[in-house]
Amino acid sequence: MMQQHLADKNIALDLVRVTEAAALASAKFTGLGDKELVDRAAVDAMRIAFQSLHIKGTIVIGEGEKDDAPMLYTGEKVGFGDGLEFDIAVDPIDGTSCVAGGRPNGIAAVGIALKGTMFNPGHSYYCEKMAVGPEAANVIDLDAPIKDNLLNVAKALGKRVGDLKVFVLDKPRHAELINQIHAAGARVMVHSDGDIAGALMTIDPRSDIDMLVGVGGTPEAVVTACALKGTGAQMLTRLKPKTEEEREAIIKDGFDLKAIRTVDDLVTTDQCFFSATGVTPGELLDGVHYRGGFALTSSMCSRGRTGTVRYIEAWHDRKKLSKMSTIEY
Ligand code: FBP
Repeated sequence: MMQQHLADKNIALDLVRVTEAAALASAKFTGLGDKELVDRAAVDAMRIAFQSLHIKGTIVIGEGEKDDAPMLYTGEKVGFGDGLEFDIAVDPIDGTSCVAGGRPNGIAAVGIALKGTMFNPGHSYYCEKMAVGPEAANVIDLDAPIKDNLLNVAKALGKRVGDLKVFVLDKPRHAELINQIHAAGARVMVHSDGDIAGALMTIDPRSDIDMLVGVGGTPEAVVTACALKGTGAQMLTRLKPKTEEEREAIIKDGFDLKAIRTVDDLVTTDQCFFSATGVTPGELLDGVHYRGGFALTSSMCSRGRTGTVRYIEAWHDRKKLSKMSTIEY
């Protein structure tokens, strides 16, 4: 009974404060050209904010191994230490280059799911991704040519292929994919970084993005799955090592390179929660705005069990927050 009561709490609402803290702490370094400063500020703030969460959390997708990541490292325990046990996937800043370079689309993001229910990417850093909203969830196929996928998605959405807008990361590896999307007659919206936000645009009623395709981070795919779970949206993934070293390491991990994983394979429980807060203004979330001693943040959070997605704006008194914390907001 107690377990059921705890599981019924919408932790996503508490999680918003974690990503807000990371966004507020790092946004001050927007456009300064220093990625490390941006990331460090987000990590420090996120770690402290986790302490207010009534969970027993273990970082399963973090900033790296303990030796090179002093905080939010894989295996680190976070949370107040009471309540249910959760696995935690953090991306303190997805789009660090966007924030440091003063470009759109930088967000702070966290996904959590009951212990033992998250896909562990091991040594896999890159995977193929194809994501769409609920209406087209059953028509995508990673093995089919992109033109067939576009046709099927257009049909499912009741659109013409020419009306489809496809989010693709602006990377040299995607040159041929972009040519093929153009040849099929669909529109490509390129972004330098940030495919968590790209995938979430497919379920955002305010965004025109219909689909995300391309190769991006495997850890980011797990964070994304925490957000999509319960919404009816789909993201298909297949590990795609970038280097021979990565290929050998993931084969050693025991992974089948041909396996296609769905959202349900990446997160096997609906007891999962997600939150993201914008750092620089983007199509999914606005960035942090400053007015005098105050800052405005825009966040979205979701809960797997109900599929509810909330958009939350908050107005923060930076002086008061800084007084209450070791972090400078
Ligand atoms: P970080 O800011 O965490 O480095 O990630 C940005 C990002 O664009 C992700 O959204 C994406 O999954 C990944 O990098 C792609 O990797 P790469 O930039 O190496 O192609």
